[in-house]
Amino acid sequence: MAAEVVGGAFLSAFLQVIFDRLGPTSTIYNYFRSRKLEDRLLENLHITLISVNKVLDDAEARQYTNSHVKEWLQKLKHAVYVADDLLDKIATKATRLKIEAETQPATSKVRCFFNCFVNPFDKRMEARIQEALDVLEFLVKQKDALGLKEGSGGGSEVGVGGKVSSRLPTTSLLPDESGIYGRDGDKEKIIRLLLDENLSRDPVSVISVVGMGGLGKTTLAQLVYNDRRMKDQFQLKAWVCVSEEFDVFGITKTILSALHCPITGHEDLNQLQLKLQEKLTGKKLLLVLDDVWNDQKSDLESLQVPFRSGASGSKILVTTRDKKVASAMVSVEVHRIALLNEEDGWKLFEEHAFKNNDASSCSSLQAIGKKIVEKCDGLPLAIKSLGGLLQTKFSEKYWNEILESEIWKLPKSNIMPALRLSYHYLPSHLKRCFAFCSIFPKDFEIDKVSLIQMWMAEDLIHCNQGNKSVGELGNGILDELESRSFVEKSEEIMTN
Ligand SMILES: Nc1ncnc2c1ncn2[C@@H]1O[C@H](COP(=O)(O)OP(=O)(O)OP(=O)(O)O)[C@@H](O)[C@H]1O
Ligand SMILES: [Mg+2]
Repeated sequence: MAAEVVGGAFLSAFLQVIFDRLGPTSTIYNYFRSRKLEDRLLENLHITLISVNKVLDDAEARQYTNSHVKEWLQKLKHAVYVADDLLDKIATKATRLKIEAETQPATSKVRCFFNCFVNPFDKRMEARIQEALDVLEFLVKQKDALGLKEGSGGGSEVGVGGKVSSRLPTTSLLPDESGIYGRDGDKEKIIRLLLDENLSRDPVSVISVVGMGGLGKTTLAQLVYNDRRMKDQFQLKAWVCVSEEFDVFGITKTILSALHCPITGHEDLNQLQLKLQEKLTGKKLLLVLDDVWNDQKSDLESLQVPFRSGASGSKILVTTRDKKVASAMVSVEVHRIALLNEEDGWKLFEEHAFKNNDASSCSSLQAIGKKIVEKCDGLPLAIKSLGGLLQTKFSEKYWNEILESEIWKLPKSNIMPALRLSYHYLPSHLKRCFAFCSIFPKDFEIDKVSLIQMWMAEDLIHCNQGNKSVGELGNGILDELESRSFVEKSEEIMTN
């Protein structure tokens, strides 16, 4: 969800990286001093960016309701990127010169030093930084006219709380059934349909679960998939997380490996489909296709060809946000999943917000919490992530701040305000690492160590906290993001 949630809010995270580049012991600063350039320019740039950063929280929250603020933020973003680009060029040049100086003989070092005095690159950079600074200073002057308020700057500090990605593939494993609220009726209805031998005349019937993002479609499918009755009914079970890219070849391979069918990796689609057809012959299959986006009938039909050899009564359970997908799959039943009612929404919130505390002993927080839950409109993901956010700060003032945030006024089209809010209130060190994940496509899976290395390469993790290594800090950040439901650990896909 990184890309969806982060949106324009990437800037505050990005600025933290620039601040580090402008530090008094940084490569760029040293370069300026050694070349006798105007290091006051760097100081001014630093100070100007700090002023910008102070109002960024407010600007990011208000950009959705105020078009002038939105425009200001866009101009600011462009100016910051220009400045960063210049700093990047200088850092690269400084590093190159350092390496050359270390590897070249003494005579050429002298020549290099002499070159410094007339270097056109330096003069150009000085002039361009001055231009970038002028633009930024001009934007800073407008902040009062826009009524932007100063905050802590770059995300409120709300306390520091396998494989990771911005959105991991789902698996059939059910997290903890006792923490799922209000889905008994849905579960029983889907199970009844799956157990119905005469649901359609086709050997394989498709049942679709439809609803907006974060409503609990995958959770419902997991509840059903893990129900004891499924094991008795179906000889074969397979779970495939499909996501945005509907790749018939890849999905067929995943189904085969879920059904423990050996494959060499050299098969073409035809050979894979023959294998699958053979495996399914005369057997009843329950296949979950989770998170389908493609509504191209031809792709869906092509995937289903081998299923015809299965025993009558086989079922495919599809989850999708889009009802067009359900009709392209020719579903015999489309189940629309509903928002949680007030009571279930509160139970879910209570579980996460008051984790180890007794909610009844905090009546003032309870009252605010109830209003926050009301604003989440019964969306489980929003309730859960806000509960996680508030759990770290047990203060009435803070809960009220969340309740009264401008972000609630956002249009609901793209991403729920509640989700944007939980991102907005992430501490800045978590925000910038999570914001980085927006470069990955939806459902992209990445190894934990690689992700931490990327954060390090982008200078997003700093070794200034005690004697912890960067790796330990990276792990800590992942744990914190996970506890706030921003990332999830991937588990092995369980099959029967
Ligand atoms: N009924 C529920 N009770 C408690 N938590 C729930 C419930 N439904 C969903 N959740 C939680 O909300 C989050 C989102 O649920 P889920 O992934 O099932 O949504 P989804 O509809 O599949 O979303 P998407 O369309 O993005 O795939 C998960 O963390 C899940 O544990
Ligand atoms: Mg899902």
